[in-house]
Amino acid sequence: MSHPIIAPSILAADFANLQRDVEIINHSDADWLHIDIMDGEFVPNISFGFPVLEAIRRYAQKPLDVHLMIVQPDRYLEQFAQAGATTITVHYEACTHLHRTLSRIRELGCRAGVALNLQTPVTALEDILDAVDQVLIMTINPGFGGQKLVRSSVQKVRKMRRLLAEYQSPALIEVDGGIDLDTITELAEAGADVFVVGTSVFKAADPALAIRQLKERPFLQRPSPMA
Ligand code: DX5
Ligand code: ZN
Repeated sequence: MSHPIIAPSILAADFANLQRDVEIINHSDADWLHIDIMDGEFVPNISFGFPVLEAIRRYAQKPLDVHLMIVQPDRYLEQFAQAGATTITVHYEACTHLHRTLSRIRELGCRAGVALNLQTPVTALEDILDAVDQVLIMTINPGFGGQKLVRSSVQKVRKMRRLLAEYQSPALIEVDGGIDLDTITELAEAGADVFVVGTSVFKAADPALAIRQLKERPFLQRPSPMA
């Protein structure tokens, strides 16, 4: 098992102290910064748009992992690439011609990600894995931070891992929602590579410490059931 890639989600930051929170991530062991874009249509919530993203980018020193929870994402791919996204992830459920969308993301010089809502089977991606750099397995219903991990998604990560192995795909598996020190180990064991963490980082007393603990967690011995 290699060290997990930790991607704190800025959605859980204090937006009145955005620069401070971005700097905390800059100086931490976090690998990426996760950016949740919600349009009030694909998900029942609105987060923020380009002016805020550009403000984040001005200070962020980590790669920007942009998760688009929006309908018709094709309309904005270029703008997100220009705004500094390293990875752009679109939802399977929002794309009629997903292969075209993912190819466009690569043409724009970004890594191409696709997110699956809870009900979408991993096999939906089987025929287009060549176009995918990253699969985001939603571990909650998207739209809000602070929710509890949906248990069935652990098994789904296992299925995705098997499918990627079968097709010899180097795509990374990312998980998003309800991840904390209690849930990260089983998700890592199931085969996830990238862990999005909002609440359990930004609501912690010491976010940098929380990130360090999450990064080490999958390597620690689990307490014995006898203890
Ligand atoms: C939810 C977002 C997540 C969210 C995770 O729709 O995609 O990235 O911020 O937050 P926590 O870690 O609080 O579940
Ligand atoms: Zn997200």
